[in-house]
Amino acid sequence: MALKYVTSADLKDKKVLARFDFNVPMDKNDPTKIADTTRVDEAMETIDYILKAGAKKLVLMSHFGRPKGEVNKKYSLEPVAKYLSEKLGEDVILTETALDRGIKTLLNLNEARVIMLENLRFHPEEESNNREFAQQLSSYGEVFVFDAFGAAHRKHASTYEINAFFKNKAYGGFLLKREVEALDKIVNHPAEPFMAIVGGAKVSDKIKIIERLLVSVEKLFIGGAMAYPFLSALGHTVGKSLCSDEDVTLAKRILMSPSKGKIVLPLDHIVSTSLDGKAEVLDSINIPSDKMALDIGPRTLAHYQDLLRNAKTVLWNGPLGLFENKEFSKGTFGVAKTLSELKAYTLIGGGDSVNAVKISGLTDKMSHVSTGGGASLEFIEEGTLPGIQALKFGID
Ligand code: 3PG
Ligand code: MG
Repeated sequence: MALKYVTSADLKDKKVLARFDFNVPMDKNDPTKIADTTRVDEAMETIDYILKAGAKKLVLMSHFGRPKGEVNKKYSLEPVAKYLSEKLGEDVILTETALDRGIKTLLNLNEARVIMLENLRFHPEEESNNREFAQQLSSYGEVFVFDAFGAAHRKHASTYEINAFFKNKAYGGFLLKREVEALDKIVNHPAEPFMAIVGGAKVSDKIKIIERLLVSVEKLFIGGAMAYPFLSALGHTVGKSLCSDEDVTLAKRILMSPSKGKIVLPLDHIVSTSLDGKAEVLDSINIPSDKMALDIGPRTLAHYQDLLRNAKTVLWNGPLGLFENKEFSKGTFGVAKTLSELKAYTLIGGGDSVNAVKISGLTDKMSHVSTGGGASLEFIEEGTLPGIQALKFGID
């Protein structure tokens, strides 16, 4: 069964309930300011489409942060409602709560076409995938549109159970379509040679994706703090670098796989005595006991770049160093630049590498930049996500 998209829905004069992932990062210095609006911007195509198709009402819903089932103003969707209203040039009415009695009244008014439910996670029933809560939400719409790719790995009331109440009336949005098509390419038919770059802090977070990717890639580059457990597992010294025993054990397990020859590890490093210390190049694979490695070294970067130039498909998840600090950003930004110049299909998945690409101003040069961190990882590991399965096949 194929996923049905919103283009095949009859929306004229309908009340449309739509789930997005408006979980946007906020500015650290100004809690009312959205630091990165991408997730809202990427939802606009679906929102515009629904409104242009003549929907009578559009009820938007999303989670925001992790308020743990309690009302907490810090996690109000108000900044998102405000931003969206400016973009649309139309009022976006934010409800008091997702279960507010006033919602029924709003739905019967001629005005107030666009309504946004306050943060779904103010209710513990959202994360517990509660059926009654899903049913209450479903009463706000005659048609359901799911475009929350970034939350599709969560089996929650608004991403999963809600499908029980929209049999043959549940559709995917344009953002979901873009994400599924891009990831499907990587999972099922990548142009070869297919190479992947996996960085980030912990092997334990990435073990599944590494094992999954080792089956299909020609090269798997490891960078970031993840590299040191691998080097340690191979008998090198890693000094004060981040390296837990648990991760060394996992790295050893991966290095026993018949595909271990595909793994490419750093040859040299940028080291320092502390996280905010002075950076120096260490032209050796072994790290002395008073130093920690915080980025890949210049020889490693050049080696990675040389190999990557042959790729026809590249997946990148996770930065190669502590790139937030300029001193330790050359590896991450160097790889971003190389990917932007390739004649290959380049997919950037995962929060931090997406951020690095944005900071480098290279987003438009990549084939696809995912709006989902955990969701894109899990899609590659499993080939699908709970929210997509429920939308596709419905649930009883
Ligand atoms: C995300 O930002 O990863 C998604 O919005 C999902 O949020 P969560 O990790 O809190 O479930
Ligand atoms: Mg997350």
